[in-house]
Amino acid sequence: MDEILPHYTEIIDGNLFWDGTNILEVAKDYGTPFIIYSENILRGNYRKIKNAFNKYFKNVSIDFAIKSNFNPSLISILSSEGCGMDASSVNEIKIALLSGVSPDNISFTPNNVTIEELKFAIDKNITINFDSLSQFRMVLDHLPEIVSFRIKIDYGKGEFPGIKTAGKGAKFGEIPELALQGYREAKEKGCRRFGIHVMAGSNVRNADHFKLVAQKILEVVKNFEEELGIEFEFVDMGGGFGVPYRPEEGELDVMDTAKNIADVFKAFYTEKGREIPRLVIEPGRYISSNSGLLVGKITDVKRQESNFTGTDIGMNILMRPALYGAYHHILIANRMNEERKFKTDVTGQICENTDRIGKDVMLQEPQIGDIVAVFNCGAYTMSMASNYNGRLLPMELLISDGKLITIREKDNFQDIVRHTKFYESAKTLKD
Ligand SMILES: Cc1ncc(COP(=O)(O)O)c(C=O)c1O
Repeated sequence: MDEILPHYTEIIDGNLFWDGTNILEVAKDYGTPFIIYSENILRGNYRKIKNAFNKYFKNVSIDFAIKSNFNPSLISILSSEGCGMDASSVNEIKIALLSGVSPDNISFTPNNVTIEELKFAIDKNITINFDSLSQFRMVLDHLPEIVSFRIKIDYGKGEFPGIKTAGKGAKFGEIPELALQGYREAKEKGCRRFGIHVMAGSNVRNADHFKLVAQKILEVVKNFEEELGIEFEFVDMGGGFGVPYRPEEGELDVMDTAKNIADVFKAFYTEKGREIPRLVIEPGRYISSNSGLLVGKITDVKRQESNFTGTDIGMNILMRPALYGAYHHILIANRMNEERKFKTDVTGQICENTDRIGKDVMLQEPQIGDIVAVFNCGAYTMSMASNYNGRLLPMELLISDGKLITIREKDNFQDIVRHTKFYESAKTLKD
């Protein structure tokens, strides 16, 4: 077959193997749905981006964006590689701490958090990238040692409007005038250590984008340093490093990306006669996306005005297609040698007409009971999954040293009713 297959896949006797693992066997042994991760791929992705940035920067921190996947086993694996963490909530911070990450390797880049969450991070000595002047002012009497603001530059770019995180209309970050005021107030309060943060958008596979973001944030650095007489000790460029979701798409060249950013930094700091400060990046998707495969079962096939292939994996597990129209590559794992000539939407079990994980997909002729594999489900899949329609969250498995480990048990019925009260018992409790 001349079909381009996603990386790390092989076909043996018409069946899909991924990272050397027979996906059908796993489905038979564990039942569907589940997400299976590869420790090799996860480590490999981290090393690739680390090597690229280490080549061009003397001082660089790579903080994995936990929002893309908060399974503690994956966090521990990355931490064992020397990777730091970027958290967007206190619970993500707690997961990082419990997974053995030290507070000085954690950054906190939240938005619209409460004073309690900010104080939690400050008390743990975790660097906060404040999202606004008003959030910063909430802790003016309890300031962290380092003050950093997430700057809303006038440029943003993401694969979809929903993942563009800077520029006009973005809800994130503070506009430069107000961030400047924040740094001024921090300085007046005696703060002497400063950082700065920017994140322009997610899933960008063009290395030039990062050059532009670097130029934009360094313009802000220049203005602020001149205005306030301070020096930023780190510049955090956020995440956004894109990955191919379609097997035929090209990869982001991380070497070029690192070089692009380094060229801008070198020119800027040479002119200033200073060492380049620590660069921070916060990749999520780049590290975790292709390290996870979602596996489900075909539960119905409707041949109507168009075809609907029903599965036990819908928007409750993989929300991105319904949320953004995102593409995820889908294969029928037990029919890999057959031709794809059946045009179909691939749907889930949820009572929403947007519940499709694939639209107009060309599949092999499906049958109830077939096993489907959905690629790039290591990022923004489990971390976005829900119990909608009373559906249970799937189990998570890890291929580690050729063995399978369960890194999250499947939910059971008790998990979804645990905190709710059946009316009669609630009344009894109240009485
Ligand atoms: C502050 C921050 N850092 C990092 C990320 C991770 O982005 P990505 O997964 O695209 O690398 C995000 C995603 O929105 C973010 O908002």
